[in-house]
Amino acid sequence: MTPIIIDTDPGVDDAFAIIYAERHPNLHIVGLTTVFGNVSVTQSTDNAAYLREQLDASFDIARGAAMPWVKPHGGYPDFVHGEKGFGRFEATIPSYETHALSAANYIIEKSHEYAGELVLVPLGPLTNIANALRLDPSLPERIKRVVLMGGAARTPGNVSPVAEANIWGDPHAAHAVFAAPWQVVMIGLDVTHQVVMSDEMVDDICESLGPKAEFIKAMASYYGAFYKAERNVDGFCVHDPTTLVYLNHPEFFEVETGMVSVVAEGPCHGQTVFAQASNSYPDPYWSSRSNNHVCFEVNADNVNSELIQHLKNF
Ligand code: RIB
Ligand code: CA
Repeated sequence: MTPIIIDTDPGVDDAFAIIYAERHPNLHIVGLTTVFGNVSVTQSTDNAAYLREQLDASFDIARGAAMPWVKPHGGYPDFVHGEKGFGRFEATIPSYETHALSAANYIIEKSHEYAGELVLVPLGPLTNIANALRLDPSLPERIKRVVLMGGAARTPGNVSPVAEANIWGDPHAAHAVFAAPWQVVMIGLDVTHQVVMSDEMVDDICESLGPKAEFIKAMASYYGAFYKAERNVDGFCVHDPTTLVYLNHPEFFEVETGMVSVVAEGPCHGQTVFAQASNSYPDPYWSSRSNNHVCFEVNADNVNSELIQHLKNF
C-alpha cells in the first residue's frame, strides 16, 4: 500500500477523491491536511471530519493554512462548490479532534515516519506544502513524490485566461513547491478537463449506496449545474479524483518531463509555464532543473471506469 497525505479543500471533487482513495486497496491515507480554497480552512476541516465519519475511517486530520503567503485572499467560489463546500448538501458535522500538529508540521513528522515512501497529494492551494518546505528544507529527501492537482500548461486556465484555481490561490507557494528538489507530477487542466463524470455515471455509483446516495447526488447536481452553465458540459470535471487515479494507474496518462515556473505577480499570476526538457533555450534559467512531470493526455474512459468501480463502495 502507498502511504499518502492528501492536502485538501473539500470541495465536491475533493470529496470524491477522498472517498476513492479510502476505498482503494492500494492506498493508505495517513492523514488529510486541510487548507483554504474552495471554502475556508475551518469549513474544509469540518468537511474532512464529515467525510472521515461517513467513511468510518481513522485517518488523521491536521488543520492548515487559512490564507495565501502573499496575495490578498480573494474569497471562496461558492458558485462552484456551494457555500459549505458540498454543493447544496447540508452536512451534520460530527464532533471531532484535529491532530495536535498543524498541517505543515504534520507533513514533516510523517515524512520521518514514512521516509522514502510517503506521497504528498495536494488538491488545493499549495500553502501547507510550501510552509512545510520553509520549516524543513530537507523535507524533499524523505518524500517519494508530490502528485498534485493544479496548473494549466498548454490549455486555458479556469480562474483567468492562464491560471488554474489551486495555483492561482497561492502562486508564491506554488512556485516554491515546483522548484523544490523533489519529483512533482502535475495533473492539470490539460488532462482534468478531458475527464467528465456524467449523470448516468453518478446514478451507477449511487445504485446501491443507500442513504449515502443523497450526499453524492446533492454534490454532483450542484457542481454539474456550474459545468453546464460555464462549459456546456453534461456532467462535471473530476479534477481531484483524476489525480488520485494517477497514483494507481499512471499508464492511463501521457507525461512530459521538464520544469514548471509559476508566475507570482501581476494579471498572469498563477500561470504555470512549462519548459520541456527536450527543448533548449538561450536563457539558462529554463534548463536549470527537470524535476517536474506534466500530464498532457489521459484515457478518460479508463479513469471514469476506475472511479466508478471504487466509488460504488462508498
Ligand atoms: O481547478 C480545480 C481545482 O480547484 C480542484 O482541486 C477543485 O477542488 C478546486 O480546488
Ligand atoms: Ca480541491
